[in-house]
Amino acid sequence: MNINNYINENKDRFLDELFELLRIESVSADPKFKHSVEDAADYLVEQFKLLELDIVEKIKTQGHPIVYAEKIIDKSFPTILVYGHYDVQPADPYELWDTPPFEPHIKNDKIYARGACDDKGQMFMHLKAYEALKNSGEINFNIKFMIEGEEECGSDNLEKFVSQSKEKLTSDVIVISDTSIISNTTPSITVGLRGLSYMEVELTGPNRDLHSGTYGGAVNNPINELCKIISSLKNEDGTINIPGFYDDIINHSSESREKINSAPFDPDHFKSHISIGSEHGELGFSTTERIGIRPTLDVNGIWGGYTGDGSKTVLPSKAFAKISMRLVPNQSSKKISKLFTEHLKALCPDSCSIKIQKHHGGEPVVVKTNTKGYSAAFEAFKEVWGKEPIPTYDGGSIPIVSHFKKELDKDSILMGFGLDEDAIHSPNESFGLFNFYKGIETITAFYLNFAKK
Ligand code: BES
Ligand code: MN
Ligand code: MN
Repeated sequence: MNINNYINENKDRFLDELFELLRIESVSADPKFKHSVEDAADYLVEQFKLLELDIVEKIKTQGHPIVYAEKIIDKSFPTILVYGHYDVQPADPYELWDTPPFEPHIKNDKIYARGACDDKGQMFMHLKAYEALKNSGEINFNIKFMIEGEEECGSDNLEKFVSQSKEKLTSDVIVISDTSIISNTTPSITVGLRGLSYMEVELTGPNRDLHSGTYGGAVNNPINELCKIISSLKNEDGTINIPGFYDDIINHSSESREKINSAPFDPDHFKSHISIGSEHGELGFSTTERIGIRPTLDVNGIWGGYTGDGSKTVLPSKAFAKISMRLVPNQSSKKISKLFTEHLKALCPDSCSIKIQKHHGGEPVVVKTNTKGYSAAFEAFKEVWGKEPIPTYDGGSIPIVSHFKKELDKDSILMGFGLDEDAIHSPNESFGLFNFYKGIETITAFYLNFAKK
């Protein structure tokens, strides 16, 4: 049978099976959902068993399990390693969802659910692409699937597993669908991801909350002080004010910048889809560059003092902030975290004390385009979308990709199908049905192209 006919005839079942997975609340960051994360892994194990692979295992880690499956048809065939993640970001704030995050819905030809795009929907396309090929013809490649449950909290345990399992994970190419395309009429392949340093700051003033009248004006307020520190971290021109922050960056040539800026970008759509009046960022760079090839620093959350109903006159003892920095080649997450820590310690006045903790990190990535894997992806888009895909630099991070490069010496093919308006990590996350089915088709073309060359 023809592959597209197979996909078409089974499209409703594909969706039902994905919905089953989307119903499982596999939020990796919150211990409250530990059992659901396990359930999602079990469900995937079941799904892989239906695909009649040789090995299907749930691998325990110190955190959430890794699901691994493989089918070696012939050792002389090329081997494709698929990576994805079945964990999702917390769905909070729940009240901002139009329909409950773990009750998948279709509206306007889109699937609405937490994880619909990031990454359950996209990862699942690989299972269905493999199924379609398996049931509609001969398969002339070997396949390995490694789907983890901790991507959204830094992939620490997967890193250990990869380092210890180099033999098991041997492959000719790694492919990941966990990124986005420019639009449904302009396909693209991701060739860059930013790295990440995620920090938490705790500033302490007095040893207890004080009456803001009896002490106010005479004791430093750690919230005021933290705001001052934070606002000093970025200059007027949008650059980051941490000594040494830019030291290791390799600047792009004007030729390379021109190429990056030639990717279609619609400023009106960019502004209107998130309801902002104007673009904003580092002076001298376009929005495409600010997201793709420039580092940045953002406060992700800030809290302290009294935030309940009404008022409470209090001079708080503590102030907190979570601050992340997105990094670009050749910055190192470890070094940037150290620079951040030293700089903030130096900024903290005697009237307060400061504690800084590092959460997860990840290194930036650039994907080579002169490889067999990239060509296979390029040709797949060309065949299925009737258009040449444009190489793009995405602003997000997938921490394991640089680790694959380091430990397995392989670039990853970042063949994602999401859209910016899919609202990943936000309320009302969605994934287009068009993207789901077209993605499955493109992935089958990629597998076949890779195997044939
Ligand atoms: N799939 C995203 C990363 C992504 C999104 C890349 C869109 C390119 C385009 C991934 O699940 C993610 O959210 N990663 C986290 C990093 C992690 C350490 C929490 C991120 O980028 O914030
Ligand atoms: Mn993801
Ligand atoms: Mn994510």
